[in-house]
Amino acid sequence: MIYVLYLLLLYASSYRYTNAEQNPYFQKNGQELLLCRKCGADVADSNYLISKHSPGAQKIEKQNLFGKQNITVQTLINPFGVKFDIVTAEKARCKNIGPRQGADSWFPGYTWNICTCPHCGQHLGWSFESSGAKAVDNNESIHLFHGLILSNILGENFTDSLIMMPKMYKM
Ligand SMILES: *[C@@H]1O[C@H](CO)[C@@H](O)[C@H](O)[C@H]1NC(C)=O
Ligand SMILES: *[C@@H]1O[C@H](CO)[C@@H](O)[C@H](O)[C@H]1NC(C)=O
Ligand SMILES: *[C@@H]1O[C@H](CO)[C@@H](O)[C@H](O)[C@H]1NC(C)=O
Ligand SMILES: [Zn+2]
Repeated sequence: MIYVLYLLLLYASSYRYTNAEQNPYFQKNGQELLLCRKCGADVADSNYLISKHSPGAQKIEKQNLFGKQNITVQTLINPFGVKFDIVTAEKARCKNIGPRQGADSWFPGYTWNICTCPHCGQHLGWSFESSGAKAVDNNESIHLFHGLILSNILGENFTDSLIMMPKMYKM
C-alpha cells in the first residue's frame, strides 16, 4: 500500500515538473514577464508581444519596452473618448468577462471582450477573437490576441519600467 502511494507521488511530482517545463510562462529566455501593475501577478511574457495594428489607431510608435526593441505601442480611443496606450500580445493570462462584443471593435473582423487579471480582477485590456471565415487584414490571420493597457502592466524589471514610464504618460 505504501509502495503504491510512493509510486503515485513520484508520478505526480514528475508530471508536475514536465508540465511546468512546457508551460511558456515558466520559460524566461532572457525576456521579461509582464506583471499586473495592481497585484504583481504575471500576466504575459514579452516573447509573445506582436505588432497588430488597428486601422483606427490615433498614433502608432515603436518603443523599447520589456527588454525588447521596437515594440509597437498604439494609442486607441474608445467610443467614450478615453485614450489607451496598448501593446498587443499573442498570449496572455486573461480572465475574460462580459459578453463578446462585435460593435466598435478596434480591429475589424474581430470581436472583443474585457481582459482582467486572473488574480485580482484589475482591468488589463481586451481579448480579440477573429469572428469568422473572412480572414481579415494583410496576412496576420491571428485568430486570438490581446491588447494590454500599458499603464496597467509593469515589466518585471521595475527600474527599467520606471525610467520609461514618464515617456508613456507624456502628451
Ligand atoms: C531583468 O532582470 C533579470 C534579473 O535581474 C535579468 O536577468 C534580465 O536580463 C533583465 N532583463 C532586462 C531586459 O534587463
Ligand atoms: C529597431 O529599429 C531600429 C530603427 O529602425 C533598427 O535599427 C533596429 O535594428 C531595430 N531592432 C530590432 C531588434 O528590430
Ligand atoms: C502574405 O503572405 C504571403 C505568403 O506568406 C506573401 O507572399 C505575401 O506577400 C503576404 N502579403 C502581405 C500583404 O503581406
Ligand atoms: Zn492583478
